[in-house]
Formats: sequence, structure tokens, C-alpha cells
Amino acid sequence: MGLLLWVWQFLRPKTDFCVFIFLFLLLQEALKKERRLKHPNQLLTSKTSRAMSSAATTPPSVDKVDGFSRKSVRKAKQKRSQSSSQFRSQGKPIELTPLPLLKDVSAQEQPELFLKKLQQCCAVFDFMDTLSDLKMKEYKRSTLNELVDYVTVSRGYLTEQAYPEVVKMVSYNIFRTLPPSDSNEFDPEEDEPTLEASWPHLQLVYEFFIRFLESQEFQPSIAKKYIDQKFVLQLLELFDSEDPRERDYLKTVLHRIYGKFLGLRAFIRKQINNIFLRFVYETEHFNGVAELLEILGSIINGFALPLKAEHKQFLVKVLIPLHTVRSLSLFHAQLAYCIVQFLEKDPALTEPVIGGLLKFWPKTCSQKEVMFLGELEEILDVIEPTQFVKIQDPLFKQISKCVSSPHFQVAERALYYWNNEYIMSLIEENSNVILPIMFTSLYRISKEHWNPAIVALVYNVLKAFMEMNSTLFDELTSTYKSDRQR
Ligand SMILES: *[C@@H]1O[C@H](CO)[C@@H](O)[C@H](O)[C@H]1NC(C)=O
Repeated sequence: MGLLLWVWQFLRPKTDFCVFIFLFLLLQEALKKERRLKHPNQLLTSKTSRAMSSAATTPPSVDKVDGFSRKSVRKAKQKRSQSSSQFRSQGKPIELTPLPLLKDVSAQEQPELFLKKLQQCCAVFDFMDTLSDLKMKEYKRSTLNELVDYVTVSRGYLTEQAYPEVVKMVSYNIFRTLPPSDSNEFDPEEDEPTLEASWPHLQLVYEFFIRFLESQEFQPSIAKKYIDQKFVLQLLELFDSEDPRERDYLKTVLHRIYGKFLGLRAFIRKQINNIFLRFVYETEHFNGVAELLEILGSIINGFALPLKAEHKQFLVKVLIPLHTVRSLSLFHAQLAYCIVQFLEKDPALTEPVIGGLLKFWPKTCSQKEVMFLGELEEILDVIEPTQFVKIQDPLFKQISKCVSSPHFQVAERALYYWNNEYIMSLIEENSNVILPIMFTSLYRISKEHWNPAIVALVYNVLKAFMEMNSTLFDELTSTYKSDRQR
């Protein structure tokens, strides 16, 4: 203030007060600008925090630059405010003392150094904070890479002490609370999945674990002390991860564990059973259904004959009801594969399976109806003629309804069956039963359907029927006409 008065004293003779005030304001602005330039960091952080808070309203293109979708940002915030186990409580930097490379020490020293490196990799970094611990993150990344190579090529590295350390390191990194994903908000058919921010490390940990499980030196008899039911349970929970890359790795991990730990097999099946039941009857939300079904497909393939009651139960009580779920399209291909695997193992299951599908046949969703028809065709492709006879009556009543569906794609999908040679041969063998069931719908459509493509397909089917048994065909035609005249 003193300075101000002094300047005014000095300028008074020449300028008036207004000009002075103007100069003063200019000076103040200039000073402010200079202060901001001196603290570029401050500017940067305020910018990023603004970007974080406004992320919810910015368009997707901007989000892509950040590397995660707006939801991941929002969820990450929730995660932090819940202080998820993944992150340290407060941002204290992690210090890891760099160790020599494994290849630079003698063979006798390697197992010891390997253990040390595993212990270091237990340190988990916060990837939502892109600026913290950059050097240490890079060090861990390169160490993980080294470990991946080491378990792949080295011999004699796998001492008994290494097993608990490997499992500990993997557990510290992969087991964590997944971000809360409320099913009413995240729609897997519509939304982009939340990608895992710590993927640069996580991927290498998974990679390492798979190589470890696949290593020639790996001994399940030692590992089973550490890879136990509790471990498997936590692993299965991770299948709910929204990140498809993670689920893909989990699929391989679980498959290897199922293959190598005979003592865990029944437990794994039981838990998958529980996940599916919870999914069908309670939550209708679980991201890894397709992946679990894919593993099951190969498990079913390996079942011994005759099938245990437990397995048949699973088919009827779990796999069939899975067809009722709203998000069926996300895992239908894998589900149909499992069903067909079962029928190829044991054809006697055809009747309950087709009975189940007919019971749960979609009433209102034409997209689902098309999926059911596709699955039914896959089943008919492998059906035994003796089984076909048992279900043909209810089956073709349903197909007849589909053929006359006003929804063009449903009708078309059903009519495509007549392009399938094997199905045609089954129909021909049983034309005396199937023709009377199908005739009325087909004849009516040929006269009335709005869509010319459907009418053309129906004409072909009628023609095929006529060739199969013209006597029966003429009988049905005249019955139909006289019925209409009445
Ligand atoms: C054709 O249908 C008639 C009437 O149902 C039946 O008696 C006859 O055996 C059928 N012919 C053939 C070749 O299937």
C-alpha cells in the first residue's frame, strides 16, 4: 500500500487518478499471469482434476484419449472412496530396491533371487493415479517380464519354497474387490466394458501364472497345498470382471487348474453350478457366463460314460433354465455347444432337453426365438432317429407355430430346416405324422402371408411334402378346403 501511495505521489503531476487506477489494474493482471506460469504443475493438476470431474459429460472420443471410459473413471472414484484392497490407504510412494537380473547371477543363486523378485512383485500400484510411482511401476513391469521368461525357459528353478511365494504374488495382484457394477446401469449388450486400469501389470501376472502352471517342473502334489478351494473360489469370483481381456486369461487359468488338480474338479463344478443358479434365479448379472460355459463345454466332453446323475441334474436343472435369462444372446453359442456335447455323450437325454426347450420357448421375444430355432437345428443335426420319433409331435407343433409367425425372421429361420438334408430325411421317414401337423399352417401361409420371400419358401416346403406322399397331400388339401367351406 505504501508503494502504491509513493507511485501515486510520483505520477500525480502528470496523470489524473483514473489513468493511475488503469495502470494499477494492468500491473496486477501481469503479476497474476506470471505467478501461474511459475507453477505449471498446479495448472496441470487442476486441469486433470477438472477433466476427471467433467468426464461424465464429455464425449467418448475424449475418454478414449484417457485410456478408460467415463464409467471407469467414475467407478474408480467410487473404488477409491471405498479404499478397495487394491490400493494403498494413503499415497506413500513404494520403494523397491532394484535387484540384479537373474541371468547375471550364478545358477546356484538364481532360486534365491527368484524368490526375492516374487516378493517384490507383491507390491501393488495404483494405476488410477497415472502420475504416481512411475519409476517403480516400470521396474515392476520389467521384473514381471523377466519372471515370465524365467519360468518359461529355466530348469530347476521350481524349488519347494517357490510354490507358496508364486501363489502369494499372484493372489496379491489378481484378487481384489471388483469395481461395483450395478446391473441396472451396465448393460453388456449396449455399453462399453470398464477396462482394468492396472492391466499393464495384471496381464503379466496372469501370463506368468499360466506359464508356471504349464511348466514341465510344475508338481500339482506340492501346489495343491496353496492352490486350494479358497483360491479357486476367489478365482471364480473374478470371472465377473467387466474386462473381457481378464476373463480370457481366467478361462485359461481355470482350465489348467481343472486339468491338473483332480481333487478340485468336483468342487469347481459345484461352484460353477452355484454361480449359474444365482445368475438365473437371483441376480441375472454375471459377466463371465460365456467363459465358464466354454470351460464346461470341454469338461463335458471328458465325462465318462455312463453319465453320473449329478451331471444329468446339472443339464436339466441348470443349463436348460439358463435359456430363460434376458441376456441369453451373450452366451447362447457356448450354451448350445454344451447342450449338444451332452446329447452326443448320451442320446437318451434328447427327450428331456427338447422338452425343456419347448417348455421355456420364448413367448414374446422374436430375437430369442431365432436363437432357440438355431439351437434346435444343432440338436437335430446329431439326433438319433429313435429319439426323433419320441419328440416329433410336440416339436413340430412348435415349428408349425414358428413357420406361421408374423415375424419374418422367425418364420424364415424355421423354414430353413427344409434345406437341411438330415432333417429332411427324418421328416420324410415320419411324413405321416409331420405332414398333418404342418399342413394347415403351410397352406394358409401360402395364401396369406404378407412377405413374398416367406411365401416362396413355403411353396418349396409344400412341394417337398407333395413329393413325399402325394396321396396324403391330396387328402389333406381336400380336408382343408372342405373345412374352410363349412
Ligand atoms: C401315404 O399316406 C397314406 C395316407 O396316410 C398312407 O396310407 C401311405 O402308406 C403313405 N405312403 C407312403 C409311401 O408313405
